[in-house]
Amino acid sequence: LNPTVLETTERYLEEQRALVEKELERLLPRADEYPSSIHQAMRYSVFAGGKRLRPILCLESGSLFGGDGKNLVRVASALEMIHTYSLVHDDLPPLDNDDLRRGKPACHRAFGEATAILAGDALLTLAFSVLASPGPPSEACKLRVIHELADAIGTHGGMVAGQVADLEATARTIDAATLEFIHSSKTGAFFRAAVRCGALYTDATEADINRVTVFGEKIGLAFQIVDDLLDVLGSREKLGKTVHKDGHQNKATYPALHGIEESQRIASRLVEGACAALEPYGTRAETLRAIAHFLIVRTS
Ligand code: FPP
Ligand code: MG
Repeated sequence: LNPTVLETTERYLEEQRALVEKELERLLPRADEYPSSIHQAMRYSVFAGGKRLRPILCLESGSLFGGDGKNLVRVASALEMIHTYSLVHDDLPPLDNDDLRRGKPACHRAFGEATAILAGDALLTLAFSVLASPGPPSEACKLRVIHELADAIGTHGGMVAGQVADLEATARTIDAATLEFIHSSKTGAFFRAAVRCGALYTDATEADINRVTVFGEKIGLAFQIVDDLLDVLGSREKLGKTVHKDGHQNKATYPALHGIEESQRIASRLVEGACAALEPYGTRAETLRAIAHFLIVRTS
C-alpha cells in the first residue's frame, strides 16, 4: 500500500467503524438495566475500542453485491458481539490469562471472572437474537446466515476447534499443517464467515459467494499470521495488549515455526491470492483489496 492509499483506507475504516459503533450502541442493553453489572461488563468490552474489522469486511462484502446498508450493519454488529465474546473468554486465566485488552484491564480484571464468563455468554447469545430478530431480509436468508456463523465459531473447523487445538499445541512441537489448521480455524473461519454473511444478505450468486469465501479464508489466515508477528515485533502501546506472550507461553506460531521473514512472505502471498479471487469485480472490489493489504501492514 502506498502512503496515500494507506491514509485513504485508514480514513475509510474510521468512518465505517463509527457506523458499526452507532448500531452496537443501539443494540446493546443499557448500562443501568437490571442486573446492571452484566450490562456494564458487556458494554465495557464492546466499547473498549476494537478496530471493528470483521463487521467492516461484512459491510463491504455486502455492498459489493448491492446489499442494503441498514440490514448489513445489523449482521455486522452481531459479528462484533461474537468477536468480543471470544476476546473476553480468551483472556480468562485458564485460557490465555491476559490482564490487558484493547489498552484496558481485561473484562475479568475489571468485573471479576464470574461476570466476565457471563458477559461473554451474553454477548454470544445476544448476537443470535439480533440475527433472528424480525424484519428484512427474508427468513431463508437469515437462517442461512445464522447457520453460517454458528458453524464458523463451533467445533467443526471453527473458532472453538481452533482454540482447543491451540491450547493442546502449546509447549508441543507441531507440524506446519496443524499450525495452519489452528490459525484457519480459530481466526480464519470467522473472517470467512464475515464476508460470506455480507454476501448472503444480498442477491449474490453462488459464484460470488465462492469468490468471497476464498478471499475471506486467505485474509483470515494472513490476519492471524500478522497477529503472531505483531506479538514478536509490535508494541504493547500500539496493540493494547501484552506482547511477547506467545514466546513465554511456548505457543505454536508462524514465526516460531517458519521464522519472521518467511511468515511475512506467507502472509503477503495469501493477501495476493485473496485479491486475485476478486479480480472479476475489477475496481468495484478496490476497497476490499485495500483492506486486505491494510491487514498485513497494520501495527495494531
Ligand atoms: C484479535 O483481533 C483477535 C484475534 C487475533 C483472534 C484470536 C482468536 C481468539 C481470541 C479465539 C478465542 C476463542 C474462544 C472460543 C475463546 P483484533 O486485532 O481484530 O482485535 P480488536 O477487535 O481489538 O481490534
Ligand atoms: Mg488465545
